Amino acid sequence: MEEKWYRVCKSNDLINKPLSKNINGIPIVLFRGKEQKVGVLLDRCPHRNIQMSKGWVENENLVCRHHGWHFDTDGICKKVAQIKEDEENNERNAISFNSVEENGFIYVHCDASPKQFPQIKERPAEIKYLVPQINNEKFLKFFLQLGIMLIIFGILIFLWFRLIPIFFINKVDTF
Ligand code: FES
Repeated sequence: MEEKWYRVCKSNDLINKPLSKNINGIPIVLFRGKEQKVGVLLDRCPHRNIQMSKGWVENENLVCRHHGWHFDTDGICKKVAQIKEDEENNERNAISFNSVEENGFIYVHCDASPKQFPQIKERPAEIKYLVPQINNEKFLKFFLQLGIMLIIFGILIFLWFRLIPIFFINKVDTF
């Protein structure tokens, strides 16, 4: 796994439902917990390896839809049906990842001890983007090509309606 921070989504993409993403083949699930804190867990339930992103958020925890285990944003298993809440068992915890929410985006690092989140001036070289970025040059090229195509299409339509009657429709003699 590359030691990089990945920009995985916009803050607005993560509201009250779990969000499934994939970083270089690692499935992750994002959700909002206590005070809107972003939680990022491996998208595999420690119980039966089910996708946790298919579950829901309840009382600030991510709930696995299969047997209803509850996980907080650090991946700590907070509740298991039929087990008293004060019984702790680390084996029930989910794998969690570090995340940073900044300027309307959410960044994730899949390493257990991530590099410090880079300063703004270091970003372009440090962060890989999973969210497609708008490349201004490509954007302009696209509109230029679209414009040219529309002009050619317009000329063809014009010729069609102007020339077809001239060549293919017999003129009616008038007296
Ligand atoms: S598979 Fe997730 S709680 Fe059982």
